[in-house]
Amino acid sequence: MYNKILKGKKGIIFGALDENSIAWKVSERVCEEGGDIVLTNTPVALRMGNIDHLASKIDCPVIPADATSLNDLEELVESAISHFGGKLDFILHSIGMSVNVRKGKEYTDLNYEWMKKGWDISAVTFHKLMQVLYKKDSMNEWGSIIALSYIAAQRTFPNYNDMADNKAYLESIARSFGYFMGKDKNVRVNTISQSPTITTAGQGVKGLEGFLKYAQKTSPLGNASARECADYVVMMFSDYTKKVTLQNLFHDGGFSSVGVSQEIIDFLEKK
Ligand SMILES: NC(=O)c1ccc[n+]([C@@H]2O[C@H](COP(=O)([O-])OP(=O)(O)OC[C@H]3O[C@@H](n4cnc5c(N)ncnc54)[C@H](O)[C@@H]3O)[C@@H](O)[C@H]2O)c1
Repeated sequence: MYNKILKGKKGIIFGALDENSIAWKVSERVCEEGGDIVLTNTPVALRMGNIDHLASKIDCPVIPADATSLNDLEELVESAISHFGGKLDFILHSIGMSVNVRKGKEYTDLNYEWMKKGWDISAVTFHKLMQVLYKKDSMNEWGSIIALSYIAAQRTFPNYNDMADNKAYLESIARSFGYFMGKDKNVRVNTISQSPTITTAGQGVKGLEGFLKYAQKTSPLGNASARECADYVVMMFSDYTKKVTLQNLFHDGGFSSVGVSQEIIDFLEKK
């Protein structure tokens, strides 16, 4: 059952690559709730993934943009506004990539050029995007901007590598730019810290499967799926959350507040 809580709202969704992408599920849910979307991803991702399939299913345009390029971001925002015939109400930044993770470099042996590239893609793009939106005054009042994060920003998860540092930076940008977006534009900015999820980016992390099981046994409500994350994003785009801003919101079945679960103790005590 859909309640059309995004009826009349328009926005840009970054990062849908294939059916597993969190951004893919968000796009489907936003449309079910009456929102209008422009999809975007890098030219390479447009060739490698199957975003066209999503675009034809939900009937929306796809505009290529590398989010590390200010030029691309400016053109994307201008094209989206002219497509909608007005300003934007929501943005999803669902972008992440670590070259060190991808190439199997350990955290104790990082390649710093790769580190810079991953930082630019995973964190600085959020600043670049908001700077373009801010300068062009592209958001409607009470709009909502969301980026996706992970608890490795606060706690140590060894295999998450330099992505942990990128997520800490991303969350800080949400607070720092969110202040100006709130004060000057009445727009809210938050990050959602999602459970581990099987996606292309997620699968890059070593030992993901064992970790998914650990998180499942630790979280009182179990791991949150990509579809459930999409539901949460829809709520954050809606008018029901107008005064929530500068927050890192855990969407993880309770994982972030648990020390250890009884299931893990029982498992470790098994003889
Ligand atoms: N999968 C998980 O376990 C998990 C958990 C918490 C948070 N997240 C975060 O969710 C977000 C989405 O990841 P996902 O798991 O859906 O994986 P995904 O691989 O489907 O999505 C990552 C996207 O980033 C895009 N991207 C990479 N470089 C880009 C660039 N320069 N410009 C524009 N887009 C670019 C990719 O093309 C891809 O579509 C990421 O920020 C990720 O860190 C994922």
